[in-house]
Amino acid sequence: MRFIGNKKNLLDTINYTLEQKNIKGNSFFDFFSGATNVARFFKKKSYKVFSSDLLYFSYCLQYAYIKNNKEPKFSKLILQLNIKKDKLIYSPLDIVVKFLNDIRPVESFIYNNYSVGGTSHLEKPRMYFSDDNAKKIDAIRIQIEDWKNNKLLTKEEYFILIACLIESVSFYSNVAGIYAAFQKKWDKRALKSFNLRTIELVYNDEKNEVFNTDSMQLISDIDTDILYLDPPYNERQYAPNYHILETIAKYDNPIIKGVTGMRDYSGQKSAFCNKETALQSLDKIAKTAKYKYLILSYNSEGIMPSKQIVETLQKYGNVELCEFDYLRFKSNFNGESKTKKHIQEQLYILARFEIRLEYQ
Ligand SMILES: C[S@@+](CC[C@H](N)C(=O)[O-])C[C@H]1O[C@@H](n2cnc3c(N)ncnc32)[C@H](O)[C@@H]1O
Repeated sequence: MRFIGNKKNLLDTINYTLEQKNIKGNSFFDFFSGATNVARFFKKKSYKVFSSDLLYFSYCLQYAYIKNNKEPKFSKLILQLNIKKDKLIYSPLDIVVKFLNDIRPVESFIYNNYSVGGTSHLEKPRMYFSDDNAKKIDAIRIQIEDWKNNKLLTKEEYFILIACLIESVSFYSNVAGIYAAFQKKWDKRALKSFNLRTIELVYNDEKNEVFNTDSMQLISDIDTDILYLDPPYNERQYAPNYHILETIAKYDNPIIKGVTGMRDYSGQKSAFCNKETALQSLDKIAKTAKYKYLILSYNSEGIMPSKQIVETLQKYGNVELCEFDYLRFKSNFNGESKTKKHIQEQLYILARFEIRLEYQ
């Protein structure tokens, strides 16, 4: 999915760097999991993975990708709905997704608040979704909740379907990557007819754990070989930038405000969006959590200065900084112009004093 600061394109670089430094172990904690790219990668490499994020929609993705470890059968649902196996589609997930794609559209929260038809009474009607797509998203979301309430889904199956919806919505939203604003003209992607997609599930043999909390609450309980931190780099909070995905995941009829129909996010503010509190939090994590290696992903434009990061981490072990050139596309607020920019992606590697890096 489109997610600011996601590490999808950096996974191989991160992995290569850790391998070069002979950093390995059995457990991996993805402390700021976001779209779960890093957690998924290390789950595939058979680590016992822990992940956490402030955002509820991230938790839905974490549950589906990280915690779930078996292929969903949807046995109760398929039996109840008397769905015949289609010759062209095979997995139970495919069958359920096809069923959801065929249900009748409904005018509900997403249509009423984020489509032009539903918000035509506003001075600036909200152009997040085409009317048809908004109705389809509503219908699918309501159906998933009904199935859950009627006990036709296991917890894993429920989160897998929500994850399919969250991942799919990204492909039809009329935004330049983030939901803090909608585009003033229709993007081609938003005019395509909404089609719920299946997600690719990942399995390993571990009991992986996922959390939806301020990760700082977890630090005294952490005991992991590799503690991976990928915090926000700047003052922009994540919650307002993804408010609609949060609402689709929760589907809790929130009170919304302003031109963009923003939900309240006062309980989801990150200390890493402020230079002072970010450094204090980094210090607290490095000091309190139990880990062998702490890996911090950051970049040369981040609000915590490199020198102070190194000074903070050095109190607890040996620190090395690895930097990589990274070409980033930066779009303006409306997504109308894009510029290319080289930035330095950084990996700070802290080996706790007890551990000796083999290359040293
Ligand atoms: C740079 S993104 C992580 C991207 C992720 N590595 C990926 O590849 O998709 C930062 C994430 O940190 C989360 N976050 C920020 N502060 C947090 C906190 N105190 N506790 C938990 N999550 C937090 C944000 O919600 C956001 O999802």
